[in-house]
Amino acid sequence: MPATRGKSIEVLFSAEAIAARNLELAREIASREFHDLLVVSVLKGSFIFAADLIRAMHGAGLSPEVEFILISSYGAGTSSGEVKILRDVDSTVAGRDVLIVDDILESGKTLKFTRDLMLGRGAKSVSVAVLLDKRKRRQTDIEADFVGFECPDRFVVGYGMDAAHAFRELPFVGTIEGAI
Ligand code: IMP
Ligand code: MG
Repeated sequence: MPATRGKSIEVLFSAEAIAARNLELAREIASREFHDLLVVSVLKGSFIFAADLIRAMHGAGLSPEVEFILISSYGAGTSSGEVKILRDVDSTVAGRDVLIVDDILESGKTLKFTRDLMLGRGAKSVSVAVLLDKRKRRQTDIEADFVGFECPDRFVVGYGMDAAHAFRELPFVGTIEGAI
C-alpha cells in the first residue's frame, strides 16, 4: 500500500483505471452534438482530472476552450453549505455549450450552483462531467451527464483532491488508512 506523509493510502481507483476511463469519457463527450464547447473546470479539486480529460478529448477529436472557476463552499464536513464564487470565468458563456468538470458530485450544491450560474448567463446547454459520484450523499436534484466512477461513501484523496490541502499530488484516488 503506498504511503505519503507517513500515512498508508488504500488505492480505490488506480492511475491506470482513471486513464482508461478518461478515454471512454472523452469518446462519450465527443459523441454528443456540442458546438463551440467551453470546458469549465471547478477549482481546485478538478485540476488534474480536467487536465487529463481535455487531453483525452483532443484525442477524441474535440477542440474545446478551457476556463476555470474557483468556488468555495462552507458547511459541516465535506458537504457544502453556502456556495460562493472566489474567482470567476473570463469567457463569454452566452450561446455556448458548456461542460462543467468537477472532481466529486456529492450533495450537488456546488454543481447545481455552477450549472445555474452558467444557465443564468445564457449558456445554450450545460452538461456536467465528474470523476466520482457519491450518490448516497445527494441533497439536490442534479445528476452528472458523464461519470467516471461511482464512489463509495468514504472520504477520498488524490488525483487533485485534498484532505486539509494535502495529498492532491497522488496519481491515484484513495482513502487514508485510519481516517474516519
Ligand atoms: P457538493 O457536491 O457540493 O457536496 O461538493 C462536492 C465537493 O466537495 C467536491 O467538489 C469536492 O471538492 C469536495 N469533496 C466531497 N467529497 C470529498 C472527498 O471525499 N474528498 C475530497 N473532497 C471532497
Ligand atoms: Mg470541489
